Amino acid sequence: MTPKNFTRRDVLKIGAMAPAAAHAFASQSAPELVSEGESSRQESVSRPDASIRERLLLDFNWRFHFGHADDPAQDFNFGKRSIFAKSGELFLPSRQNFDDSLWQAIDLPHDFAVALPFVDAPELISFGAKPLGREYPATSIGWYRRVFEIPSTDANRRLSLEFDGVFRDCIVALNGHYLGRNLSGYAPFRCAITDFANYGGKNILVVRVDATEHEGWFYEGAGIYRHVWLVKTNPLHVAHCGTYITSDVRVAAAHVTAATEVVNENDTAKTCRVVSTIFDKAGKRIATARSAAGAIAPWTTHDFQQQLEVPHPALWSLDDPNMYRLLTIIEGGAGESAGAENVNAVVDRYETFFGIRTFHFDPDKGLFLNGAHVEVKGTCNHQDHAGVGSALPDRIQYFRIARLKEMGANAYRTSHNPPTPALLDACDRLGMLVMDETRMMSSDKEGLSELERMMRRDRNHPSIFLWSLGNEEPEQGTPRGARIAATMKRLARRIDPARPVTVAMNGHWGAGYSKVVDVQGFNYFHLGSVDKFHADFPAQPCIGSEEASTVSTRGIYENDAARGYVSAYDMNKPDWGSLAGDWWPYFVARPFIAGAFVWTGFDYRGEPTPYAWPCISSHFGIMDTCGFPKDNYFYYQAWWTSRPVLHVFPHWNWQGKEGQPISVWVHGNCEEVELFLNDQSLGKHPMPRNAHLEWKVNYAPGTLLARGFTGGKLIAESRQETTGAPAAIKLTPDRQAINADGEDVAIITVAVLDSKNRVVPIADNEITFELTGHGKVIGVGNGDPSSHEPDKTSQRRAFNGLAQVIVQAQKQPGDIVLTAHSPGLQSATLTITANAASSRPSVS
Ligand code: GAL
Repeated sequence: MTPKNFTRRDVLKIGAMAPAAAHAFASQSAPELVSEGESSRQESVSRPDASIRERLLLDFNWRFHFGHADDPAQDFNFGKRSIFAKSGELFLPSRQNFDDSLWQAIDLPHDFAVALPFVDAPELISFGAKPLGREYPATSIGWYRRVFEIPSTDANRRLSLEFDGVFRDCIVALNGHYLGRNLSGYAPFRCAITDFANYGGKNILVVRVDATEHEGWFYEGAGIYRHVWLVKTNPLHVAHCGTYITSDVRVAAAHVTAATEVVNENDTAKTCRVVSTIFDKAGKRIATARSAAGAIAPWTTHDFQQQLEVPHPALWSLDDPNMYRLLTIIEGGAGESAGAENVNAVVDRYETFFGIRTFHFDPDKGLFLNGAHVEVKGTCNHQDHAGVGSALPDRIQYFRIARLKEMGANAYRTSHNPPTPALLDACDRLGMLVMDETRMMSSDKEGLSELERMMRRDRNHPSIFLWSLGNEEPEQGTPRGARIAATMKRLARRIDPARPVTVAMNGHWGAGYSKVVDVQGFNYFHLGSVDKFHADFPAQPCIGSEEASTVSTRGIYENDAARGYVSAYDMNKPDWGSLAGDWWPYFVARPFIAGAFVWTGFDYRGEPTPYAWPCISSHFGIMDTCGFPKDNYFYYQAWWTSRPVLHVFPHWNWQGKEGQPISVWVHGNCEEVELFLNDQSLGKHPMPRNAHLEWKVNYAPGTLLARGFTGGKLIAESRQETTGAPAAIKLTPDRQAINADGEDVAIITVAVLDSKNRVVPIADNEITFELTGHGKVIGVGNGDPSSHEPDKTSQRRAFNGLAQVIVQAQKQPGDIVLTAHSPGLQSATLTITANAASSRPSVS
């Protein structure tokens, strides 16, 4: 049989539109590839072989140094009589003999802003009070340098670097050759390095990062704060992010369409075929499709499209987030005239994780996932966490998504930027819907490129149900805005016709962008009239793209402007926001709204509201920057889950307020609640739906106890006890055993206890951590929005009884022993086991 010649780039046709898909990079640990029943021929083509495609983590052993925006002498001569266009001479630190021994040794992800001191200056307060910007030339530029070998055996391969995200405006050079400049602090980007590599020798990668300019109005971090990868392929290979999987779910089977872009980066035509195999989560082969063999002309891309059937698919859902894996094998590499029988050498193998599910928006009833109605109970979030700033180890993404799920949240808005891929993996695997948002709402080259890079990377994640084109843009209500949105939507449809687009608007609904997007986003329902919009545009589904902005500080029960704290009763909000107990009933009464995203799930650095310095962090979170719940967490948990929830507050340590009335609130979902102070009943009341209960209680030390009843039966209790003085420290890890892979972390809650083992809710003891074994403390925090203590150190004060320490494993297995001391308190010791684990393949 003679293979056909493929025409130049066919139009990519995606037939069935029931949206389903997931993509994760091939770095995921994958189940066994070949299962029983596969022919010997199939086995011969699917055996893993690192020489076919490698995707190596390039996170370890970097060097870092600050540059200087105004002084070339302190900026490694950047901008001083250097010739930009001269091949191989870009950047002084690119030189082989450049001495970087005084540069700091670091691993990625790395946020150089988080280790800077807090500075009290009006121009910084919204951004987290770190000295970045025009006024701070000495701390806004970061240089990164990494030396690595590329073997001579790679000389016939195609090599590239993939950056998951660098904040921001970076210039990348390899061996002194300019690879590119990337402005966006959030969109992934890729640099081809085949031509510039030293094969069989040392390669010098230098990245100059300029974080002078902000992209948002919140803390954004700085530097190479996400992963970097070195990718090596055969010249004939699956294109970067070159698979797109959709499915049409029928009664007994899902019809899966696998679209694959294959690039021939050879100077001669190459004959190949695509063999696509679906595996279930146990690694069992479900279906295989083999394309016809054909020749791809040199330096062109060909789009293959294959149909596979998955009988009785295990659907991806919020409770059971089932994933499948598509293994794409390119057989070929022989010359154009080779017969089909000669194209069975494997030249590429590429994995795509995906899910099978359906969803649709009904303009009157909201969102349906796999045919069942789902109220979107979402949170918006920025990306920083206590201790680490914007440079989160992947494990923290899972920790945060799990905390949100525990609260009952089922959706996450990546406000206001493309997220790191690990966040999406966590959402896929834990069952959390995602509204994926681009940063720059523009139809110029940069804006479209950012959108395209995000969407091509993310379009196979089953968790994503909406693409967001932007947030609260000045052009939102104008005809020009509509033209911009229309161009963006046209691009979005081309990359992923299976999902709707939305935009988060805080005014002008019905005009501008509204005319373009599929789903209308409302930032703050009451700023306009969602009812009027629904009456005027009955066919357009609506979602609360942003709601609440309720402010509260964990464990604080009185506003305190001097210290920058806000009471944790559900009582404070800015003019544009709403209280938890107000917006949720408003939504519940309007079934046509698909749901909403609370601003925000977690506190984040920057945007302190309503107070400024000494406050440096927002208070909008339902949880603080560590993920410790504030009291409103239990409001949401009560009305967002079906588990019995009961939570009485405030704490009961009000020494000096004896006899004075204290407001006592109870969040919960029991039918009736009875409150007791020191065994005296203070009354039993029915719990109003989607609301809370309140008592005024004259303070007397002792025990405040709430009992919750449903159907007359006691189903839950919650208590607050007056504690004694701080006496001891307690360390509780999120996991006792972690992987010794150089990346995994244990997230440890540090609690200050009294002599009866009760958390002292007002304790602020300073605690020092000591660690032995193959691990390191990578950050500390306590959720105090006004703390100016450093994150990158080994000590921290408790804030209202709690702190957090994050311990990262190195690559050697063994016990990691963490001890916590504080003067006058009994110390605590915790042993974390770092189990032998294979690290992700990485550049040595
Ligand atoms: C919104 C904005 C968010 C955040 C929030 C604070 O208008 O979209 O980024 O600033 O206000 O309430």
